[in-house]
Amino acid sequence: MSVREAVPLTVEHFSDVASLERDLGTRHGCVPILLPDGMPAWLVLGNAEMREALSHPGLVRGVSAANEKLMPYLTLANSDFPLSRHLLFADQPDHGRMKESVKKAFTRSQVEKLRPWMTDFTHGLIDEIVERGEADFIPAVALPLPIAVISEVLGVEEDRRADFEARAAVITGVNTSANGADIAAAGEWFDAFAGELLAARRVEPRDDVMTTMAEAVDDGRMTEREARSNAFLFLSAGFETTVNLLANGLLALLRHREQLRLFREDRSRDATLRGLEEMLRYDSAVSGITYRFAADDLQLAGVSIPKGDHVAICLPTANHDERAVSCPARFDVRRETNPHLSFGHSTHYCIGAPLARLEGEVAFRVTVDRLADLELAVPEEELTWKPSFTVHRLSRLPVRFRPGARRAPGEGRS
Ligand code: HEM
Repeated sequence: MSVREAVPLTVEHFSDVASLERDLGTRHGCVPILLPDGMPAWLVLGNAEMREALSHPGLVRGVSAANEKLMPYLTLANSDFPLSRHLLFADQPDHGRMKESVKKAFTRSQVEKLRPWMTDFTHGLIDEIVERGEADFIPAVALPLPIAVISEVLGVEEDRRADFEARAAVITGVNTSANGADIAAAGEWFDAFAGELLAARRVEPRDDVMTTMAEAVDDGRMTEREARSNAFLFLSAGFETTVNLLANGLLALLRHREQLRLFREDRSRDATLRGLEEMLRYDSAVSGITYRFAADDLQLAGVSIPKGDHVAICLPTANHDERAVSCPARFDVRRETNPHLSFGHSTHYCIGAPLARLEGEVAFRVTVDRLADLELAVPEEELTWKPSFTVHRLSRLPVRFRPGARRAPGEGRS
């Protein structure tokens, strides 16, 4: 690929599909670009193209397939980083072996056990703000709920949660002032922390993912480094994405008053889940997926990709592709056919999707039930986004409301 032909992209391109398509001169395909951090890539646009890329056997995650010029950009995936041996950066057979070991901890029936606790916890968050009439939804609900959920799933005690949140912000790029040294320090912290969590489960086993991984290490199905890397992945990938689902989803409802009314009025589980899928599609929590490398010269979306090149994906273009989604610009909580790719596709499909969906279902239902006359508390133009091209994260979401329905007696308590 010739870097000279590559189109340099900004962070904004990843959340504004129209400007991206305009500047690249296409809505679908595979185009040479420079990512906002300068990393050269082929960018995949469109729903069918993203499915093709994510299931392409010649596109791998292991950095040993990447060409030399990409190395300076591969901080987190580089084998020097202690926590690089997780599912997301693994290829077969390691990927299949690890996923087999942990998947039972994330099945729908396993996460469903969290529903009463999660409902109770969410009501507690709303109790804190309901009489105030105004709150920033992010620190009030969108952030503490996913942090508490992933902490509950991994056994992180309450007094360690602020610590892990701060380190995760460095790793996920949400703390944009972080540099290479900060990332390395956060990695070391997570490494030691994940080791502590595993050690605690060996002493006191539970019905949870850390116990599952501690057992897998002890009987030789996983290495200690893999278990720590996966714990780090669950902690970091498992909350930042969900924060954005909750905040971006609520913003979409607030910007479309009729849709908010429909979502509020039809309280059936079916309608709630359909609305949730639309929130996942409309303003995707993940904007860019990076780090896939051509293991050989290959064809992708009709384009020749040389061996060693980097392929990245702009997820919102798949969710707003008019060839796959009818009237994609319309936010429609009753949409019947919704082939969004917000959780990815194929081999690396999100293992946390059932957990994130449960969080979304509980959080949106409790929020719209208990907060009446919900509206933005600032003009929409004042909302700003964190400068990241991998996640689409609002800086704040101030909302106004009055007390709505009361919590039903016993609701959410097991
Ligand atoms: C709304 C919330 C979420 C969104 C939008 C999301 C999105 C994604 C996407 C797009 C991928 C595929 C990445 C790729 O193919 O390169 C992925 C993978 C993954 N996600 Fe999520 N995720 C969410 C929540 C969670 C949660 C709660 C967890 C908790 C454990 C989690 C853990 C993972 C893991 C471990 C992978 C890698 C799976 C593999 O490589 O096989 N995610 N996620």
